[in-house]
Amino acid sequence: MRAAYIEELGPPEVIRLGDLPAPVPGAGEVLVDVLATAVDPVDALVRSGVFRTPLPFPFVLGRDLVGTVAEPAAGFAAGEAVWCNSLGHGGRQGAAAERVAVAADRLYRLPDGVPPLEAVAVLHPAATAYLALFNHGELLPGETVLVAGAGGNVGSALVALAARAGARVLATASPRDHAYVRALGAAEVVDYREPAARLAELAPDGIDLHVDTSGRHDLETAVGLLAHRGRVLLLAGPGARPVLPVGPLYMKDASVRGFAISRATVAELAEAAAALNDMLAGGGLRPRALEVLPLEAVAEVHRRMEAGELRGRRVVLRVAGADGGR
Ligand SMILES: NC(=O)c1ccc[n+]([C@@H]2O[C@H](COP(=O)([O-])OP(=O)(O)OC[C@H]3O[C@@H](n4cnc5c(N)ncnc54)[C@H](OP(=O)(O)O)[C@@H]3O)[C@@H](O)[C@H]2O)c1
Repeated sequence: MRAAYIEELGPPEVIRLGDLPAPVPGAGEVLVDVLATAVDPVDALVRSGVFRTPLPFPFVLGRDLVGTVAEPAAGFAAGEAVWCNSLGHGGRQGAAAERVAVAADRLYRLPDGVPPLEAVAVLHPAATAYLALFNHGELLPGETVLVAGAGGNVGSALVALAARAGARVLATASPRDHAYVRALGAAEVVDYREPAARLAELAPDGIDLHVDTSGRHDLETAVGLLAHRGRVLLLAGPGARPVLPVGPLYMKDASVRGFAISRATVAELAEAAAALNDMLAGGGLRPRALEVLPLEAVAEVHRRMEAGELRGRRVVLRVAGADGGR
């Protein structure tokens, strides 16, 4: 079967495109014919070795897939439309191949009528947003959340999910993204170049949950804006080494937490999947800018992603020949 894989860690040049033996599903696994996979920032972190995880070489790249069940197994019928967003980590092979064996408890049915290429584009940022807000950020209805980088893929999903859950959403974004971010449900949107005093005015009782997707962390400012028992959730910027203002943090009973979706449990992923499927079925979760390319473009897409050229847009790699429209 055709696959995009690596045999060593390194830059995009280590990516190979070629034939590998098709996987043989083990007990509790389902064989999936892959229609498409997405390219996520974490794929580059794994490929380069920045995010260390056991890799069986040759290692197939890719976190997310959408496809159809190849043969009946574990309660799934042949031909059912399915998706997965937790491949390519912890010893699991990735999604960028014609056939993938997926553990049944990591495989979810795609609701009828949802365009599969749009779905696979939003799985990673939206599941990240769900787990960040509710499992790690412990966001409650009526709380105030600040989403920095709200025009981006994860940021826009954070805004939509937090607003849907009844939180008051403050957001920072470039002015060109303000209308889009407001339409997603943000109560207030501020240019991220404006001084933090503007955010303090908008949240006089403080921020309950602060999430910055840009990776440029200013914890002096973030902790200063927090409410009593506020939380700063870190999920981006692997190289950032910001100064932590210890006194203001503990005197507010506040906390700084880290979160990586790669570490999510099967139960957490399943909970997020149910919420995503609800939103997908209702048409409430769609990529803002979607580019569909053939699997052969994988190395070039990794290069563009690392050069910062994919900001706010999603790239989906088509693996099977079908057009994916249903
Ligand atoms: N921890 C996890 O589980 C997890 C999961 C998924 C993704 N991530 C990480 O999340 C990050 C975001 O991914 P993404 O796909 O959403 O990226 P993205 O689409 O590029 O979004 C980043 C956003 O940040 C904005 N931005 C840039 N500088 C800023 C600043 N100083 N203040 C506020 N906003 C600023 C950008 O706006 P402009 O383009 O207008 O400058 C852009 O809208 C990546 O680092 C990714 O690795 C983590």
